[in-house]
Amino acid sequence: MGRSRKAPVGVEKKSILSLNGIHKHFSIAGNRITVINGLSLELNEGEIVAITGKSGCGKSTLLNIITGITRPDDGHIILKGKRIRYRSDMFMSRLRNREIGQIFQTFRLLEDESVISNLMMPARIKGNAGSPVREYALEILGRTGMSEYVNTRTGLLSGGQKQRVAISRAIVNRPSLILADEPDANLDTAKSQEIFKLLEMLRDEGKSILIVTHKDYMLKHADRTYTMENGVLRLIK
Ligand SMILES: Nc1ncnc2c1ncn2[C@@H]1O[C@H](COP(=O)(O)OP(=O)(O)O)[C@@H](O)[C@H]1O
Ligand SMILES: [Mg+2]
Repeated sequence: MGRSRKAPVGVEKKSILSLNGIHKHFSIAGNRITVINGLSLELNEGEIVAITGKSGCGKSTLLNIITGITRPDDGHIILKGKRIRYRSDMFMSRLRNREIGQIFQTFRLLEDESVISNLMMPARIKGNAGSPVREYALEILGRTGMSEYVNTRTGLLSGGQKQRVAISRAIVNRPSLILADEPDANLDTAKSQEIFKLLEMLRDEGKSILIVTHKDYMLKHADRTYTMENGVLRLIK
């Protein structure tokens, strides 16, 4: 049964992320290549937006601009009502740690450390790793189906399990925005669907999710889907 994600008439959905007129070029061996060319996007509370597009079209660059790893040439970004000012690396990493949960294709876990230790890492960086946060981390692992593995070294887990841990880690600091860069690229279709169901669960709790993916299932089930071409986003669903 299809479920409408539209807000009731008269109720404005809260904007979490707003990109306006973003431009970015790189100079490679003397050649100027424009990767992002006047791109705009709105992401509201409780939405999953998917982006697809050919390899090299600039999807990861876009995510890096949102997290502040890459500075745009022009345009501006408003995150939770505040304009992102590209300040020091320390300032930007603090913003990432507190406001944004990130999920990657290669999981980026500390493979020699346990599941719970991986989950506590962002909390340690934030300076808030006391027992209430540990309780919360354990609760998250319950919801992502990883309770049995709390003390398991992540290097021993399967790909699908690793991505469950990475998703769990992404939400420990209670970010309102989750960015996922091809989180299912290393997973089979069934695992990819499981990962998407977890993202839907987070969406239904009010988080906003921007996901880069090539998988039809995700493109079909996202609330909105865009393809990136010529440095801008084109709505396809
Ligand atoms: N730091 C960088 N320096 C120079 N070129 C870059 C850099 N990052 C990305 N690019 C180039 O920008 C283009 C887009 O890359 P990327 O955003 O990784 O694409 P996608 O994620 O869509 O595959 C590619 O041509 C890539 O080579
Ligand atoms: Mg990429």
